[in-house]
Amino acid sequence: MISVRDLRVSYGGTVVAHVPEFDLATGQVLGIAGESGSGKSQTALALMGLTRYSGGVVTGSMKLGDVDLSTLSSKQWRAVRGRQIAMILQSPRAALNPTISLGTLFGRTLKLHGVARAERHARMEQALAEVMLHPQILSRYPHEVSGGQAQRFAIALVAALRVDVLIADEPTSALDVTVQSEVIDVLRNLRESHGTAIVFISHDLAVISELADQVMVMRGGEVVEQGTTEQILREPAEQYTRDLLAAVPVIGRTR
Ligand SMILES: Nc1ncnc2c1ncn2[C@@H]1O[C@H](COP(=O)(O)OP(=O)(O)O)[C@@H](O)[C@H]1O
Ligand SMILES: [Mg+2]
Repeated sequence: MISVRDLRVSYGGTVVAHVPEFDLATGQVLGIAGESGSGKSQTALALMGLTRYSGGVVTGSMKLGDVDLSTLSSKQWRAVRGRQIAMILQSPRAALNPTISLGTLFGRTLKLHGVARAERHARMEQALAEVMLHPQILSRYPHEVSGGQAQRFAIALVAALRVDVLIADEPTSALDVTVQSEVIDVLRNLRESHGTAIVFISHDLAVISELADQVMVMRGGEVVEQGTTEQILREPAEQYTRDLLAAVPVIGRTR
């Protein structure tokens, strides 16, 4: 599905993120862990073709199926984002336009990405059911929903767009622990019912281990450890990785 080789993001010649390689198949989840400033978001932005807007330069290759994303023009990227690859962020409410209802936003987003009018309503209904939101939420405005509902709504958009790959940058970091696990459940459902491949980013390795098949640990822009989630949890090679695991206690977990 997605295949990355020697990806580097740099600003003015300084490399801020370097990912040697990863491959992600349909329905698989890659977790990227690391402390603040380790290069996680810059990696995410590179995978979305967005670093150019902040002056970042990307080298290396990122293939989505047969298409080498690293060679796409800005116009070509616009046709890929929202159709093949999408991103959700830490604070979905901040990204929503406060003056339009969620239903209007949902309809416009589907239209923008080429979903036929006749199909939009059914897609919305199905997607809301998948993220366990009542259709009544469509009449609400962003300030009228909770952070957890907003994040599930963002995932409903992704489900309705039927993208192949979702980049989720700290999607649970602003949420309470109980709400965090609802969002994880919804993402798990997305991968299972749509086969969406997910890049799940968090500073909290314990949260990542709930969902990820493979884990990449970043520090100072470099990947310091990489392997299956089981390997990384059972035998972390680096003390840094152990610290990321111990950083946040998760209620109800015993290890
Ligand atoms: N526009 C920019 N210009 C220069 N450096 C940047 C820019 N954006 C981010 N960086 C640098 O990239 C590094 C990685 O940042 P980031 O990927 O956001 O970290 P993380 O998401 O892991 O907290 C940081 O050291 C940051 O200073
Ligand atoms: Mg970040």
